[in-house]
Amino acid sequence: MLAQLYFKRLPGWWKMLVVAMCMALLACLQAQELQGHVSIILLGATGDLAKKYLWQGLFQLYLDEVGKGYSFSFHGAALTSTKQGQEFIAKVLESLSCPEDMAPGRCAELRGQFQQLSQYRHLRTSEDYMALSKDIEAQLQHKGLQEAGRIFYFSVPPFAYADIARNINSSCRPGPGAWLRVVLEKPFGHDRLSAQQLATELGSFFQEKEMYRVDHYLGKQAVAQILPFRDQNRKALDGLWNRHHVERVEIIMKETVDAEGRTSFYEEYGVIRDVLQNHLTEVLTLVAMELPHNISSSEAVLRHKLQAFRALRGLQKGSAVLGQYQAYSEQVRREQRKPDSFRSLTPTFAGILVHMDNLRWEGVPFLLMSGKALDERVGYVRILFRNQAYCAQNEKRWVADQSQCLPRQIVFYIGHGELGSPAVLVSRNLFRPSLPSKSWKEVEGRPRLHLFGRPLSDYYAYSPVREQDAYSVLISHIFHGRKDSFITTENLLASWVFWTPLLDSLAHEVPRLYPGGAENGHLLDFEFSGTQLRFSQQQLEQLVPGPGSAPKPSDFQVLQAKYRESPLISAWPEELIAKLAEDIEATAVRAVQRFGEFHLALSGGSSPVPLFEQLATRHYGFPWAHTHLWLVDERCVPLRDPESNFQGLQAHLLQHVRVPHYNVHPMPVHLHQRLCAEEDRGAQMYASEISALVTNSSFDLVLLGMGMDGHTASLFPQSPAGLEGTQLVVLTRSPSKPHERMSLSLPLINRAHKVAVLVMGRMKREITMLVSRVGHEPKKWPISGVLPSSGQLV
Ligand code: BG6
Repeated sequence: MLAQLYFKRLPGWWKMLVVAMCMALLACLQAQELQGHVSIILLGATGDLAKKYLWQGLFQLYLDEVGKGYSFSFHGAALTSTKQGQEFIAKVLESLSCPEDMAPGRCAELRGQFQQLSQYRHLRTSEDYMALSKDIEAQLQHKGLQEAGRIFYFSVPPFAYADIARNINSSCRPGPGAWLRVVLEKPFGHDRLSAQQLATELGSFFQEKEMYRVDHYLGKQAVAQILPFRDQNRKALDGLWNRHHVERVEIIMKETVDAEGRTSFYEEYGVIRDVLQNHLTEVLTLVAMELPHNISSSEAVLRHKLQAFRALRGLQKGSAVLGQYQAYSEQVRREQRKPDSFRSLTPTFAGILVHMDNLRWEGVPFLLMSGKALDERVGYVRILFRNQAYCAQNEKRWVADQSQCLPRQIVFYIGHGELGSPAVLVSRNLFRPSLPSKSWKEVEGRPRLHLFGRPLSDYYAYSPVREQDAYSVLISHIFHGRKDSFITTENLLASWVFWTPLLDSLAHEVPRLYPGGAENGHLLDFEFSGTQLRFSQQQLEQLVPGPGSAPKPSDFQVLQAKYRESPLISAWPEELIAKLAEDIEATAVRAVQRFGEFHLALSGGSSPVPLFEQLATRHYGFPWAHTHLWLVDERCVPLRDPESNFQGLQAHLLQHVRVPHYNVHPMPVHLHQRLCAEEDRGAQMYASEISALVTNSSFDLVLLGMGMDGHTASLFPQSPAGLEGTQLVVLTRSPSKPHERMSLSLPLINRAHKVAVLVMGRMKREITMLVSRVGHEPKKWPISGVLPSSGQLV
């Protein structure tokens, strides 16, 4: 009545406007009604994950979307008999909860509607799938509904994927114009190869855009906030989010639970595959990736993420520390009926040091850590900034939001721990962050609480207005087609490419045993230096005997101090490397004093790696600015190939020291886009470069190694090239891959002022003994031809 009265009094143009607005509103409402019907099929509906999270997530989706234009039906499917399945589902649905701020009456009403829309069905054979599709079509027709799409949520073990995928593809696709989304749960493979196989198989049934691979950490509120936070605080972070300001990044997931009851899965995966390869790596990429201009473009986010994956520097064995809680092996024996002698090597704890090879993050350590049976349950990403300030005032007068001397950090607190909820923390001396006020609120004061060494009051601290479970967040993103919260095939494979070599190299590593819980004490603390990570405490006993027992000092013979008439230095590896590095530095300093420059030729392979690292981290007086670095030999692969000797030199030495670029002389193995072709005359080019720059072509020092077959440099037994003659540099063939090599020749090596041969490891013992007895037989044992004409051999 009142409205009519007002309407009559309005001028004519106003009336037209109001009518137009009402019509537009009506059109909107109608459009909402026309959005269509969505069928959600939960496969594995009676399993643990479904019970714990997925039904609740689907209910939340219904609560969020009801009345917004879509209609729904929910099909819980499993292999369980119809009766049992129905009973199970009825029970689960009864226990579904509503957000705290919803009135109980409304909650009951909506839960009732949800129960009406949900049903159980036994789904096993291809006929069952056809019947499901027919039922959906019949329902649509009966109610006169347009189909919007179908979501199939695979909450089943991966061995069941292929069959289900085949059935969906052949008989359960929605009609034209409607979308299909299949949701997949990890594990997505066990290593690069298996992940690739699984991806190829799935790719034969579904298009990339149809697949949603879940990493539930991407649905955790603090994790999902990383990119929006970076975006909304661009101005403050622009200058800070880089290697000049960030000291380190810690990405941590600690658990108190152990693997009991899951050892059959855990034995095959271990903590790296279970948590680091997926959850922690995903978080890492969100922190490290370049921020797209438009973070709501899924395509841009995924592309930038992929670039971050590609910038990850390859891991070495020394980048990891591994642990296993003491009760683990016993649990495996019990659950899998293994004999008493069985000891597992599966790590339940890992700390990994990751570096990125790009200008933003070069040199910044990213520490990833996760473990079971630890002292607390907590997850967080902590970005700790460098402190370059000095504060002249007494510490007592430092004020949290002003003092540059207090620690400066940003923490995405994923959950649990002392705080007990997700949060974003920013040190007050950094900046006041901006967070969406609808969904994040400031944390109320908790004066006693200390986090990361500071009272909570030192931080601007925000937590979600409404805490949401990760699965509910992700189910909503699936419904809205937000692909950036999921793992694409490309990103998945990029992650496995990064982790697989490390996993292979650690396969036989014996993890450190820890008692579990608070008793772990400092046993699992670790520290890093350069690219190496190690436990801070020495372990006094080897509690798990490894495969093949460790060598004892008595396994080694005491060698004479002369070897083939030359001085012999023998020591335990660390001492030996330290001694050699000292020697090289002294030689370098002398050469620079006398001639102004030092020409050092270095071998590749794994033996010199600790030497390079020693030189990089302990020898600050080394005259790098006057040192020329040459290669003793090279594999015929591109210089950026991980197998390239130059790549090893770059990774372990060059990037840590300041050698002028023009003093670095990689071997020209890759010319005209081909490798070591005779016609390209790479060997001759290298020889000319040596002749031009090195006086008399006599290197100041050549560092060699010795292979188990007596080869040195890339001069191999029974391969005549380079053993004699006038050529300084030669192309040779190795019996092992990659076969093609380039090498300094013996005559050139023997012109050096000093030659050092570094031999390490038990495997070299036999050849060392043998060569100690043979004469000058370079054809059989090229190493026996190393005899500097006027220089010294060590
Ligand atoms: C899973 C792992 O992906 O994540 C489990 O398989 C782990 O081993 C779990 O316990 C941790 O998730 P949340 O959400 O409890 O931190």
